[in-house]
Amino acid sequence: MTQGVLDAGTEIDRSRLAALTTREVEAFAAVRPRSRSLAERAQASLLGGVPMTWMMRWAGPYPVFLAEARGACVVDVDGHEYVDLCLGDTGAMAGHAPEPVVRAVAARAASGITAMLPTEDAAWAGEELARRFGLPLWQFTLSATDANRFAIRMARALTGRPKILIFNGCYHGTVDETFATLREDGSVGVRPGNVGPPVDPALTTKVVEFNDLDALEAALAPGDVACVLAEPALTNIGIVLPDPGFHEQLRALTRRAGTLLILDETHTFSAGHGGYTAAHGLEPDLLTIGKAIGGGVPVGAFGVTEELAARALAQKDADYEDVGGIGGTLAGNALSLAAVRATLGEVLTAEAFGRMTALGERLADGTATAIEHAGVPWHVTRLGARSEYRFRRIPPRNGGESATAGDEQLERFLHLYALNRGVLITPFHSMALACPATTEADVDQHTEVFAAALAELG
Ligand SMILES: Cc1ncc(COP(=O)(O)O)c(C=O)c1O
Repeated sequence: MTQGVLDAGTEIDRSRLAALTTREVEAFAAVRPRSRSLAERAQASLLGGVPMTWMMRWAGPYPVFLAEARGACVVDVDGHEYVDLCLGDTGAMAGHAPEPVVRAVAARAASGITAMLPTEDAAWAGEELARRFGLPLWQFTLSATDANRFAIRMARALTGRPKILIFNGCYHGTVDETFATLREDGSVGVRPGNVGPPVDPALTTKVVEFNDLDALEAALAPGDVACVLAEPALTNIGIVLPDPGFHEQLRALTRRAGTLLILDETHTFSAGHGGYTAAHGLEPDLLTIGKAIGGGVPVGAFGVTEELAARALAQKDADYEDVGGIGGTLAGNALSLAAVRATLGEVLTAEAFGRMTALGERLADGTATAIEHAGVPWHVTRLGARSEYRFRRIPPRNGGESATAGDEQLERFLHLYALNRGVLITPFHSMALACPATTEADVDQHTEVFAAALAELG
């Protein structure tokens, strides 16, 4: 468990926090009998009582079971309504059940879901992603994890180099090479909790701190790094923004070293309709994305430059057509691509991003004001429609610094307090996201509840 390093003189009273958390756990359980009975039943047939083990992470004593979700509102099986600022940890950034996606998916489902054949929607989706992110040629997967795995494979095949480089504290899905961490002595180690690593990650991966250009340059110098895989801003250890000039240098150093640059826009898509890449004129060699682009329907994608695509398809020893390691029988299926077309064409439009960003600003401002009034040494960072508070006065510059600003006890209390008052926050971090259906009242409800929780903490 991580304990937050809070600024001197502003320690949280831990016994008070424990008592408040117990009170909130009891309040949670008192009004959610149906979720409890489903959780008990599921223990007999599901590992950990949940369809995917990370669902054990929710702040309550058992998960809230979903009845329905529309727009920015989730309703549980006990009839409680929540303002959903978690939005499926970005998977539902288009809002829940957006009408154009529901319509397109229903029509596509009724006329064939998967047939191993391309559809017109696929061409439309490729064209739209090219227009938004600047890379001309696209492939579709079932998840962002797969998009990253395939992009890494391509980078290795194209460069003939064995290693990849990631930034400390990153998360790019369940990709083996990325479950590495930077140890205090500067060596690469297994990320804590990594389940069954196939090999020592030091064999596959170099890790440097985000914003550390000297370390990056040194790590690239031996010429053995196929690619840097990076989020344009870290989003999975709080939000850590790049220093001014970081991206220019990252691009220059990777080009000079003959290392490909893969930007993962899965979360940073919140920065605008072409993600952080378009908003800041970045020039990756490959770009990966997933989660939001299908409006909730599973789909991921990766884009490449013309030059890389031509080189890849000309490689006689790389089997892109069959069992070469890039694939997935259901990848590129008709249903996912119909969902992408409806999501990007009609829901997550440039105009929608304008509104979502304004709401993101309102949310971050409200949270920051509450922090200021309470006098706690925390901060809020925003990336377009997405924002996150963290238990440290100064925003961190890298993953190592940000890791010291986590506090699981405090986070659990704040999330549970919000849940009991109708606001859903992402369990893995304190991220709050606006979707096209989010309203100012939704955002203000979060601010009020957050401020009240801080007042209770004293
Ligand atoms: C930046 C980033 N990339 C990739 C992924 C993997 O997404 P998925 O689990 O949908 O494959 C995640 C998941 O949180 C992510 O945050």
